[in-house]
Amino acid sequence: MERKINIAIDGYSSCGKSTLAKGIAKALGYAYIDSGAMYRAVTLYAIRNGLSNNDEIDESGLETELDNITVDFTNSNGMNMTRLNGEIVENEIRNMEVSALVSQVSRIKKVREKLRLMQQDASRFGGVVMDGRDIGSAVLPFAELKIFMTANKDIRAMRRFEELAEKGETITLEEIRANLEKRDLLDTTRKENPLVQVPDALLLDNTKMTEKEQLNQALDWAKELIFET
Ligand code: DC
Repeated sequence: MERKINIAIDGYSSCGKSTLAKGIAKALGYAYIDSGAMYRAVTLYAIRNGLSNNDEIDESGLETELDNITVDFTNSNGMNMTRLNGEIVENEIRNMEVSALVSQVSRIKKVREKLRLMQQDASRFGGVVMDGRDIGSAVLPFAELKIFMTANKDIRAMRRFEELAEKGETITLEEIRANLEKRDLLDTTRKENPLVQVPDALLLDNTKMTEKEQLNQALDWAKELIFET
């Protein structure tokens, strides 16, 4: 018998979580939810609305604005697009200004609570692949399959560098490395739902794996659960 499961993918920044999550969702006909994009969209809102200055987020100012922020996804030409208050912001949320501030936004308890409820609501019928930092630990603690991804830091920085260069962003490998290191530290040491590998998550170190190998491994794990008797 076939059943719809939820799949939680957590891991460090630029580990290839979204590529894998999208691949799994496509292969299984599941929905993909990029929880990091939701934190990025809230960060973009803060930047646009004067709630950041000197690289500092005005945390209490942002908290009072939370009811005015809606983040959701729409499908355009088969691509998942993040929307902030109805506007597609898929490109803007990936820029370095947002990347530099997003960890500050994502440590705010009220922001996490708001996004967690939205993420849980979207997964209530199963058939969802969601990636982030706290999916297996806090958002979907009962997900049937949990994957924790990791990869060598230099490889991660290089992958991010190539991704941004392709989009025409001028940034050095050193700047990317510094941003990754800072985010890893903030994400793993923050008080609210830090990034952790929960005991029931399966480890996927993709330093030496191709995208296809990663997808095959994840689908093997998923199918065992989907067709469990
Ligand atoms: O996956 P990403 O790099 O797009 O995520 C952006 C930031 O959002 C990341 O630095 C940590 C935060 N984040 C989080 O705190 N919890 C999640 N579930 C997803 C992302």
